[in-house]
Amino acid sequence: MVPWFRTVIVIAAVIGGVLPRAALIVGDDAVDVTAIAGLLELILDIDPDSARKSLDVITTKVQNRELSAEVLAELRGKLGARLAQVLATETQKSLHGAAAALAASLGDPSASKRCAAMVFDADVASADRLAALQTLVFLRDRSLLAQIPDLLAGNPRSELDLRGKFLDSLGRWEEPQLAEILVRIYGRLESELQPRVVELLAQRPAWSHKLLDAIGERKIPDRALNTNQIARLLASQDETLVRKVREKWGSVRTQRNPEREQVVNNLRTLLQQERGDPLPGQKIFDRLCGQCHKIYGNGQDVGPDITSNGRASFEQLLSNVLDPSLVIGASYQARVVVTDDGRALTGLPIEENDQRVILKVQGGKLETLPRVEIETYRVSELSMMPEGLENQLNKQELLDLFAFILLDKPPSDPAARFLPGTPSAQALPKP
Ligand code: HEC
Repeated sequence: MVPWFRTVIVIAAVIGGVLPRAALIVGDDAVDVTAIAGLLELILDIDPDSARKSLDVITTKVQNRELSAEVLAELRGKLGARLAQVLATETQKSLHGAAAALAASLGDPSASKRCAAMVFDADVASADRLAALQTLVFLRDRSLLAQIPDLLAGNPRSELDLRGKFLDSLGRWEEPQLAEILVRIYGRLESELQPRVVELLAQRPAWSHKLLDAIGERKIPDRALNTNQIARLLASQDETLVRKVREKWGSVRTQRNPEREQVVNNLRTLLQQERGDPLPGQKIFDRLCGQCHKIYGNGQDVGPDITSNGRASFEQLLSNVLDPSLVIGASYQARVVVTDDGRALTGLPIEENDQRVILKVQGGKLETLPRVEIETYRVSELSMMPEGLENQLNKQELLDLFAFILLDKPPSDPAARFLPGTPSAQALPKP
């Protein structure tokens, strides 16, 4: 039984009180579109919340290309008119986002126009705006391209989180022009969004060329790339790209570098002599680490929340930050994937089975990859946490970052104390 189908059925069954019938369908392997349509019909008018969830489940399946052409045609036939009706009913407004996304994904052109309008409508709920954008990306709607600068870097600026998700959603679209647009707006983006642009552009060779050009023209600093991203570029089939990357960064190890101990020693010595400022350090954390870690409630949860993990002492923190692959938690071994359309991703496995793989990538996005679209799949010997993060910072930035993460509470909290074993130089008044 396909699990998503079960979700729709169960939601519908609980609401509609049709469990016996649902149980019967769950025992069958085929996707029974008639049953889905029937069950949806039961809940559409009486329980909008469950109906919306059910529609979302189906939309996700359609957009992940997990359904056969026959099932899609059947869904279109059995649901199309009903979805159009929902979209025309003002009292069912809470369902409009979900209905438009599904109808458009099934090929209804007027529904895709609705999606295009919703993306920009600040009165529409964030989840619906995101679903609308994902739908336009799924449809490869090129009219979206001209609007991306406004969407990501226009005024007024708010909704950092939503704009980050907008950005992540673009990764699926093998559109060369996207890279040009993102490079152009890079300098106008917040420091939390910039690493997500870099992560995106390092996913496709055609985009990565633009990224390297921008680095050559100093529009993007070369230290914006971490070792995961450099390693991914070096593994590309595109020889010109590999040559350019090697010229710039040399090679990157695929196994732990034993010389990391020296890096730890050097930083220990530095921190015994000089101190930085935790406030700018917090900003550096948001940019460099917050893509993967939460601290004090902010950031993404790809790696552990380091509010209370991995920072028991000064020495433990140094080792964890500078020599991440010394000890790797089994669940943190990165997977390196290349899809049949040439997209390369590094992430942590959330689900791995014969049908699909779900990876959580830097920035927190879940990427669902049908097995049939995966060309190569490899378990990295390295932690998902990149080695050599210190190379992305200058000395002052490194001192500032450590001034921030050596405190056990936010710098604004008067009760904040240094981690046990922190060198006394850190507590000295600033020169
Ligand atoms: C690309 C994602 C990523 C980035 C960027 C990243 N980390 Fe990590 N980090 C991880 C993962 C995954 C782990 C778990 C490591 C393991 O077990 O191998 C980890 C582990 C840690 C730990 C140890 C946590 C524990 O439970 O033991 C600390 C501390 C840490 N990171 C700090 C940082 C800091 C500081 C930065 C920024 C300079 C940073 N990380 C950047 C992914 C990342």
